[in-house]
Amino acid sequence: MKRRKWIALFLSYVLTLSLLAGCGGNAEPQSGGETADNEADILEDSEPDTEAAVVSADDTGGEKILIAYFAVAENSDVDAISSASVLADDGEAKGLSKFLSDIIAERTGGELFSIRTEEKFPGEYEPLANHAKEEQDNGVLPVLTSHIGNLDEYDTVFIGYPVWWYTLPQVMLSFFEEYDFSGKTLIPFCTHLGSRSGGTFERIAELEPDATVRDGFFVSMEDAADAEPDVLQWLASLGY
Ligand SMILES: Cc1cc2nc3c(=O)[nH]c(=O)nc-3n(C[C@H](O)[C@H](O)[C@H](O)COP(=O)(O)O)c2cc1C
Repeated sequence: MKRRKWIALFLSYVLTLSLLAGCGGNAEPQSGGETADNEADILEDSEPDTEAAVVSADDTGGEKILIAYFAVAENSDVDAISSASVLADDGEAKGLSKFLSDIIAERTGGELFSIRTEEKFPGEYEPLANHAKEEQDNGVLPVLTSHIGNLDEYDTVFIGYPVWWYTLPQVMLSFFEEYDFSGKTLIPFCTHLGSRSGGTFERIAELEPDATVRDGFFVSMEDAADAEPDVLQWLASLGY
């Protein structure tokens, strides 16, 4: 099974790296949405190659909320079904980060924003792992092709991503480099395969020192398909 294959591959990478480096990486155990309606002004550098980057949701209050997420399945040339960590939800193939984003959007009435990249990520496990590692080692900041044109209008931004190589995928560094979230509330959420949040919530607080970063949510890839009650509970704990 593909997911098992990835787990086995990933674990063998972790083991190899741990042996080589004499440590298990910088994973840090931690634990862990919100309300709005708005007309997001999303700018695309190039034609979106999959679904629209923005999806409107119901209005549940005055707070303006954006849910920005990175889904590798939406940034790959390969059929999403065959890519590394795709969950089929009601027949729609999507990454787990998108799956969680949809739950958050539905609960909060926030708008979805898909972080898109110029580069197309490999759809197969090993090439994707190698590619992401190489980007991280070389400090590559992938070029973004979708842009939030009206960030000023949002009070709160949920930010979703998978943990890659113990931390934020490089594309998220591009994202934080592009925007100044000073004065805004950021609420991170992520999926993982053992690293939990990987210290990424703290990393985001470092990258955006003038934003308020609220309690994030993380869920293991293994449990993600059944995560809706936990997501809703987390949202409720934040007042949504
Ligand atoms: C390139 C790559 C690196 C990964 N590194 C880690 C890691 O360091 N720790 C971890 O727990 N999971 C790791 N994983 C597993 C991902 O976190 C998992 O595939 C992801 O949470 C699934 O979410 P998605 O469908 O939104 O991509 C990695 C996956 C990929 C593809």
